[in-house]
Amino acid sequence: MTPNLDYLIHIAQQAGEILMQGYLQKHEIRHKGRIDLVTEMDTRSEDYLLGEIRRDFKDHTIITEESGHLDGLEDHCWFIDPLDGTANYAHGVPIFSVTVAYAYRNQVALAVTVDPSRAHCFSAERGQGAFLNGQPIHVSTTQALVDAMLVTGFPTDLKDPTKNNLDNFSRFLKNVQSIRRLGSAAIDMAYVAAGWLDGYWEIGIHPWDIAAGTLLVEEAGGLVTNLQGEENYFKSPYSLIATNPVLHAKMRTMLQVTDDR
Ligand code: IPD
Repeated sequence: MTPNLDYLIHIAQQAGEILMQGYLQKHEIRHKGRIDLVTEMDTRSEDYLLGEIRRDFKDHTIITEESGHLDGLEDHCWFIDPLDGTANYAHGVPIFSVTVAYAYRNQVALAVTVDPSRAHCFSAERGQGAFLNGQPIHVSTTQALVDAMLVTGFPTDLKDPTKNNLDNFSRFLKNVQSIRRLGSAAIDMAYVAAGWLDGYWEIGIHPWDIAAGTLLVEEAGGLVTNLQGEENYFKSPYSLIATNPVLHAKMRTMLQVTDDR
């Protein structure tokens, strides 16, 4: 049995409601690393999502941020981040999301990112376009870096200068209109799909953070590759450029300096 987009929208919205119940409350915060946080709400949201998918699609593989890799059929694989933007959430900053993707035979087929604090539901089905609350969305038509507002993120381990993204950030900053760091990769990519931001890049990202976003951007007319420019980008070590086709070549050139070092 395979899921449909309405199913993903339903479970992601329900998980978003769980997050809103705990938003601005006092949290139990655990540290997975020096600056890598997890709250009890990540766990509650994930328990809900796993419970639903396990009940309805018993034999599917599930890859999640908190529980890791739950074995199942290789052809049917879910990617789940029950709370993308945990640091924002823990601080009370209303930029966080639930992001869910379903991949069939190693290709993301269905994608949903819900921002519950703004009632935004971004969704996409392969070949059917990308949508925000049911309305079609498209990547921007910005052509020049100097007119582009980009977005990025940083890994939690900043020690390795070839992977910490600081050189890229500084180089882009001198060549684009502006750069945002929103703190939820899933929202970053949804905003690129909506054309609100012009391009996203990140190094050392996790598959559950970006699986839904890749389909959203592609279905909104964008181009997604890894930093090496490969369209077969969904593999470790995960790095990503997601933008419109014209800006893609320009972003890739700016990122090649680090890439080729
Ligand atoms: C993080 C966010 C952030 C990105 C990090 C992710 P989390 O996910 O998506 O924007 O820069 O790489 O780990 O930890 O909030 O689920």
